[in-house]
Amino acid sequence: MMPDIGFVNGQFMPLADAVVSVEDRGFQFGDGVYEVIRTYGGRPFHLNAHLARLERSAKAIDLPCPLSPAQWAERVAEGIRLAGYRECKVYLQLTRGPAPRDHIFPTAVHPTVVMTVRELHPLSDGLRSGVSAITLPDFRWGRCDIKSIGLLANVLARQRAKDAGAFEAIFIRDGEVTEGAVSNVMIVRRGVLATSPEGERILSGVTRSLVLELARKEGLAVQERPVSEAELRGADEVFLTGTTVEVLPVNRIDGIAIGSGRPGPVVTLLAARFRNLTV
Ligand code: PDD
Repeated sequence: MMPDIGFVNGQFMPLADAVVSVEDRGFQFGDGVYEVIRTYGGRPFHLNAHLARLERSAKAIDLPCPLSPAQWAERVAEGIRLAGYRECKVYLQLTRGPAPRDHIFPTAVHPTVVMTVRELHPLSDGLRSGVSAITLPDFRWGRCDIKSIGLLANVLARQRAKDAGAFEAIFIRDGEVTEGAVSNVMIVRRGVLATSPEGERILSGVTRSLVLELARKEGLAVQERPVSEAELRGADEVFLTGTTVEVLPVNRIDGIAIGSGRPGPVVTLLAARFRNLTV
């Protein structure tokens, strides 16, 4: 067993030994893409969907993917095996590699392939019973569908949430809810579930699509359409979806209670159905 695993360009090693060049374009420009995957019962959850999105993100930035999904899957399985934790958080990152600093792509690109495997700590029961969020103007770039490692805006937003005693920052662009700093956002009003449509303003969350599928199976009305800031604040229920947050009720936004201020029936049902997928 070799806990906290690093993988750099084909080699597994203890995470503490995993290093890349200071001239890596990921380090200097944020020129790269990533995925976060977690295990349930030791198995990576919806790995194929994450790997497909990694390929889409890489393609969107003209970055050749040195590993096929099948090759990735093999490395991920090996990393999880080496780490030996009960549950793991797997991070995959692909950058345009080391090159003398120049905005223009280098002529010969040697992508840097990185994976880390660390122990996953489940969310506390306290958080599961609902979190607070703040709202912020969406000051990110215009291609939020690409899972770019350039996360400065998300980092600043999440820190502002923390400084305000909240868990997540919900972004508002042109009066519409886009998503959270680390999650997608869904609202429920009079039994109808609504969430921002896929497109360049949000990340197409793996959890988002699973939860929408579960909601449809339950016979809920589901609308993928722009959600206004007023609808967010006036919703009966608001919740977050994401690999790290699963299905997480939002009880307060900017200090004001949403609905009853406690997890509502729809999020409670969907969280239970989601949990069934993970056992
Ligand atoms: N974030 N939106 C954003 C901006 C995200 O960063 C994430 C996930 C999601 C949810 O996507 P998914 O359901 O596929 O995890 C939505 C990862 C976990 C992170 O950056 O840590």
